[in-house]
Amino acid sequence: MSLAVGVIGTGVMGAEHARLLRDATSGAHLAAVCDADEARAAAAAAGGAVFTDGMALIASDKVQAVVIASPDATHAQYALACVAAGKPVLCEKPIAATAAEGLAIVQAETALGSRLVTVGFMRRFDPAYTEMQAARISGNIGTPVLLHNIHRNAAAPAWFTGAMAVTNSLVHEIDISRWLLGSEMVTAQVTSAPGGDPMLVTMQTDKGEIVSTEVFMNATYGYHVHAQLVGRLGSVEMAAPTRTLTNLAAAQSFGFPPNWVPRFTDAYRLQMQTWVDAVAMGIHVGASAWDGYVTTSIAEQIVDGMAAGNRIDLTFPARPALYA
Ligand code: NAI
Repeated sequence: MSLAVGVIGTGVMGAEHARLLRDATSGAHLAAVCDADEARAAAAAAGGAVFTDGMALIASDKVQAVVIASPDATHAQYALACVAAGKPVLCEKPIAATAAEGLAIVQAETALGSRLVTVGFMRRFDPAYTEMQAARISGNIGTPVLLHNIHRNAAAPAWFTGAMAVTNSLVHEIDISRWLLGSEMVTAQVTSAPGGDPMLVTMQTDKGEIVSTEVFMNATYGYHVHAQLVGRLGSVEMAAPTRTLTNLAAAQSFGFPPNWVPRFTDAYRLQMQTWVDAVAMGIHVGASAWDGYVTTSIAEQIVDGMAAGNRIDLTFPARPALYA
């Protein structure tokens, strides 16, 4: 049986998710799309139903499962509607614009007793991060002590505010650091350059590991994500972001991608296939609503405390048994 998936939001990410469902995912098909811009939705529909109201797409009997790729502020209302309709949903990060909205999704799932929400933290499916996590679990590098993350964009759009560097970009490192280390973050401290870009965020985990993350939204030269995990016996880090090296004019080089779509193309594809397979098997794989809530809560606590420059003690409610 082929899973009928509806995609809400057909901008950069939604168009890519729709393409994956059309061309690169087995066991599923693109049944419907929705965008506030009807022409954009129609261009991505490829024969599927076209909606301009996300709630109507979620309610449609043509749709069995949903991908949310509309702007951050719309995620919570659509995710809650999917839970109420009993439909599995892959929701782009962040799970919600506020921690309170994220917690409401956790509470809705807890009341239902079922995990229907997967948050699109696709780095968990990136082959380099997967190898790094396997290295940590194998014990080969010894007890982890440090994780260094770099997150650089070529140029941030004008509407991208200082807080969004945390709530929209750093959230990737918060999630992947929790996942790589298998630890929870307990403190955070922020140092920013004049104007707020770049910023350096230092977090410490419940096991005492130190996580440093540079977020640089206007790094000019390209999109560059890097991570190095340091243990007591050795370290493991990402190699170049490309598969090939060019030898030319007395130099060896590789190129940086312009943005996240080419850099994480395998991760987006593997995430979609894994989600479709998990839905078919009735299991949950990937970042849960709880992971999404914790990540957004950490980001919110960092934004609230970063102006003072002091150490921020991170607090959360107890993890519900559904997410054990
Ligand atoms: P975008 O601006 O390219 O696309 C958003 C689309 O949603 C637009 O076509 C817009 O018309 C539509 N839209 C606006 N309000 C809507 C509504 N209420 N209902 C339905 N459609 C609506 O944005 P982009 O870059 O595709 O980002 C979408 C989401 O994906 C964001 O939440 C963002 O944080 C996330 N994202 C995730 C990435 C990842 O690596 N996992 C990378 C980039 C974005």
